[in-house]
Amino acid sequence: MDYNSLPNFYAALDAKYNVTNNELNSATYTNVDCNFVYSAKYARHRWFNYKEGFSPILVEKIFNEYKLNKSSVVCDPFCGAGTTVAVAKAKGMKSIGFEVNPFAAFITKVKTENYSKDNMEEFEKLLQELSTIEIAINIELPENEYLRRIFESEMLLAQLNIRKYINELPESKPKELLFFAWICTLEECALYRKAGNGLKIKRRPPTYDKGCAFKFAMECISKKAASMIEDFSLEDNGPIPQVYVESVTTMEKNVAKNTVDLVLFSPPYANCFDYTKIYYLELWFAGFVNSTSDQKNIRMKSLRSHCHATWPERYTSFNLPELNDQIIPLLRQQKLWTNKIPDMLNGYFADMEEALRQIYDSLKSGGHCAIVVSNSAYAGIVIPTDVFLAMIAEKIGFKVQEIAVERLIITSSQQYKKTERVRKYLRESIVKLEK
Ligand SMILES: C[S@@+](CC[C@H](N)C(=O)[O-])C[C@H]1O[C@@H](n2cnc3c(N)ncnc32)[C@H](O)[C@@H]1O
Repeated sequence: MDYNSLPNFYAALDAKYNVTNNELNSATYTNVDCNFVYSAKYARHRWFNYKEGFSPILVEKIFNEYKLNKSSVVCDPFCGAGTTVAVAKAKGMKSIGFEVNPFAAFITKVKTENYSKDNMEEFEKLLQELSTIEIAINIELPENEYLRRIFESEMLLAQLNIRKYINELPESKPKELLFFAWICTLEECALYRKAGNGLKIKRRPPTYDKGCAFKFAMECISKKAASMIEDFSLEDNGPIPQVYVESVTTMEKNVAKNTVDLVLFSPPYANCFDYTKIYYLELWFAGFVNSTSDQKNIRMKSLRSHCHATWPERYTSFNLPELNDQIIPLLRQQKLWTNKIPDMLNGYFADMEEALRQIYDSLKSGGHCAIVVSNSAYAGIVIPTDVFLAMIAEKIGFKVQEIAVERLIITSSQQYKKTERVRKYLRESIVKLEK
């Protein structure tokens, strides 16, 4: 295949499926249900801005579409900050999640826990106590040099003292709430912010007077805690989701066959983003990761969606001719920012095949799977992830019901120019499957 054949290639792939809403002609970020920004309006969902998450609106829509009820069982094998399982819980449904990032799994846990009035009162008491601690100057600095630079020096001292106070509290739900409220504010107090695939220095760092870093940090924590207390309701007592801090590939070990009604998820996209870099600040500063080997362990369990690791050979028998014989050879002829991209893509779809196989087994006959996914692009070549996942799912035995286009997306401005002729395939879609 050559460059000029790409429009026909994508059109022929789409023609195999029921692709709906594919007449869009401009990219948008807002007004789509899959965007996490809508979580800001939802109790509990608004506690942490997990940018890669989808919104509770989308989850409710899919639950309604498949007519789920209280006796339904739902699974999100890439559960991130827990949007799917939190909505399932609120609706009284049993739910299961898998997530390799221990920080994301922790967000899910805190968001979906049942709390009593006493727990909330104790949380407020701890917060009050924290605001009165003495700041010790001779506290041990982090070994990790990058972490020492992430805050201005007075703020670093304040944060280390806060961390020490919280870490020394006995284990309890109120302690977890406080720990969580604190983690949610780290970025606001830092000199760096999340941007693309990692952290970037802020143009506008946090401003506070000399001697007031601790006060500033406490104001941020108190604001967060206030929103958590506001969201507390004794009615939020649905079944607590079973969340495994494990890879999707452990599903067959943990979920009995033919037991799940709906599997709803959004996997990492094949766009080279590494979640251990994006959530570096929270993972390291809060102690979910204490060494480069801890970080590597998370990467090794993750889907092969980026090039920051080389995985020992996994599932090498994978072959999708449209990827391996058409897209990959064309990519290999291009100048890419790293020549690892073609192998990464092969690994990505191999991992997704394994995930879909295990998902298929977990579903009841007639059960559904909905995948929210964006396509990506390299050197002007769109990777039609949505259609490729549909093709893989079909090989496994799924019936592909629909590929519902949600929106067109903008990748980097460079890719945007290069993909001019095939831009309508740069899209975010929901791939809907039936067993
Ligand atoms: C797009 S996010 C999901 C966000 C989620 N839908 C939400 O609303 O919060 C994809 C998640 O998959 C996780 N992940 C990556 N590889 C995984 C694997 N092999 N098994 C389970 N989770 C994985 C990432 O850490 C990330 O949190």
